[in-house]
Amino acid sequence: MTERSLVLVKPDGFARGLTGEVLARIERKGYRLAALAILTPTREQLAAHYAEHEGKPFYEPLVAFMSSGPVTAIVIEGERCIEGFRSLAGATDPTKAAPGSIRGDFGRDWGKPVQENIVHGSDAPESAAREIGIWFPSLG
Ligand code: CMP
Repeated sequence: MTERSLVLVKPDGFARGLTGEVLARIERKGYRLAALAILTPTREQLAAHYAEHEGKPFYEPLVAFMSSGPVTAIVIEGERCIEGFRSLAGATDPTKAAPGSIRGDFGRDWGKPVQENIVHGSDAPESAAREIGIWFPSLG
């Protein structure tokens, strides 16, 4: 079934100039780009995006990191693209992510291994719909 996913190139990936690499891999995989924006996230956007993590020990550092600079927000489209992009991204911990994946090829432990992991991808159709509404209200 055709579905949409919300992808973020996080501040570490953006600062390292990896947005083009991420976009190229999405396109080579055959997914369509439905929306794209460069923005520095507000606390309000991040509170909504990470609502399920509020109260966890990594929440405040995560919000501080994600609001530290520009990100690229992307809506991708295609059959099973939620699962497909998570496969392109690789395991959450870049040290463990398989070579060939975005995190496996470009990520490593910089001292905050799981926080700075280059990209985010929605994990289910419900979260994709919720997240697309946060980053692209006009598509919600
Ligand atoms: P993501 O899956 O995009 O959304 C939740 C984010 O929380 C996750 O990426 C990581 O960046 C971050 N995260 C999850 N677990 C931890 C952790 N134990 N320590 C620091 N950051 C974390």
